[in-house]
Amino acid sequence: MTPKDDLIAKLKNKTAKIGILGMGYVGMPLAVVFAEKGFNVLGIDPDKRKVDTFNKGISYIQDVPSETVARLQKSGHLNMTADFADLAEMDAVSICVPTPLRQTGDPDMSFILSATEELAKYVHKGMVVVLESTTYPGTTREILVPMLTNNGKQTLVVGEDIFICFSPERVDPGREDWTTYNTPKVMGGMTKDCVEVATTWYAGALETIVQVSSPEAAEMAKLLENTFRMINIGMVNELAMMCERLGVDVWEVIDAAASKPFGFMKFTPGPGLGGHCIPIDPLYLSWKMKALNYSAKFIELASEINTNMPRYVVSRILEGMNDRGKTLKGNKVLVLGVAYKPDIDDVRESPALDVIALLQKKGALVEYHDPYISNIHHEHEHWKLSSLPDDKMMDAVRKADVVVLVTNHKAYNYPDLIKNASFLFDTRNATGPYVNDSTTNVVRL
Ligand SMILES: NC(=O)c1ccc[n+]([C@@H]2O[C@H](COP(=O)([O-])OP(=O)(O)OC[C@H]3O[C@@H](n4cnc5c(N)ncnc54)[C@H](O)[C@@H]3O)[C@@H](O)[C@H]2O)c1
Repeated sequence: MTPKDDLIAKLKNKTAKIGILGMGYVGMPLAVVFAEKGFNVLGIDPDKRKVDTFNKGISYIQDVPSETVARLQKSGHLNMTADFADLAEMDAVSICVPTPLRQTGDPDMSFILSATEELAKYVHKGMVVVLESTTYPGTTREILVPMLTNNGKQTLVVGEDIFICFSPERVDPGREDWTTYNTPKVMGGMTKDCVEVATTWYAGALETIVQVSSPEAAEMAKLLENTFRMINIGMVNELAMMCERLGVDVWEVIDAAASKPFGFMKFTPGPGLGGHCIPIDPLYLSWKMKALNYSAKFIELASEINTNMPRYVVSRILEGMNDRGKTLKGNKVLVLGVAYKPDIDDVRESPALDVIALLQKKGALVEYHDPYISNIHHEHEHWKLSSLPDDKMMDAVRKADVVVLVTNHKAYNYPDLIKNASFLFDTRNATGPYVNDSTTNVVRL
């Protein structure tokens, strides 16, 4: 039996041992999907706090209930460790480690490098490896393949001894209709056999696998998806600024355009981009293109507009304060919602942090409330804040000189906010359905 046939047989009858390197927002739900479908899964993560929490049967990821973690752990289908040596036992490994930016705006490949370095110590004949982390085109071929096929002790032939693919994770945290299980999964391998092996594995747990001809096509598909979103958001943010100068309600314009049943897709303006993906991923592509002497113009323009949105929001708040005979200096600002999008507990890259930092620089006395996020800190500005408790929120709304709605969580009662705030600046049009021409205390972006 060849290593490929042997591996395919184990993947089909689910005796293959599955390792998930990196058990965060992406890795944990993926591990759960494999475990739910009967695979034996081991999550490997250097963060001992996560391992300890998991081992108590508690989930630290909002989309994964603790009951699921406890049940899968009890059945033996899902375990977690910080010990990389266990990789030696694995037949199939997904890499789901972070791919952030450095302070300079360049890709930070250190997590992919360190995870692959660990895996290279234990890689063996008959192993399939799938990189899931979003990254620039060429990463799988240029980084994973050399490190995994020649670790100084052995040489493995890709497509014969070892099978290497890239499959981008597309999960949208907090979403219930499209999940890790039913969102089609793009798979691009170094060879046809690589894709065949990885497809056999993933199809054993996920609904639809979409094969492409190379890892680069799969890497680029993910960047297309997120660049598409980032550029359209940049475009609609600019439209919001143009509408304000024209004295036109941007939200009305968008709704009117969205009534077209074809050829238009609705995007909405906001206080800036957030999350681990949309603000970051396109910059992986523009960085790679720079190395090829090509400037990714759409990405750079959209990035500039989106990055400026917190500043634009603060300038509009200042204007609103001015209209009320006030300034920001020494006055109370209550920010509602700091998560980067509604109804989730993720504050990574959230524009709320920049909005707060800019308000503070203007001398405002800023407090915040978020039902999902009890503490925040700004990495570069070096401050920390704690959320007001839920039962103190409405009192703070009444006392604030301006309430700034940054994240439109469903938990907020918008008619009540309108009733109690003296001035409400709404960056998301959450109050749109409740305001009319006689509402004077609400200003929308
Ligand atoms: N969060 C999302 O919504 C989302 C969606 C699609 C794609 N992605 C991409 O998926 C990747 C992972 O993102 P995430 O949100 O799960 O990140 P995360 O920070 O939530 O999780 C990453 C995990 O990897 C662990 N880790 C760090 N170094 C490691 C190493 N050397 N070996 C093993 N584990 C290591 C960390 O401790 C952490 O638990 C990124 O490339 C991201 O761009 C994320």
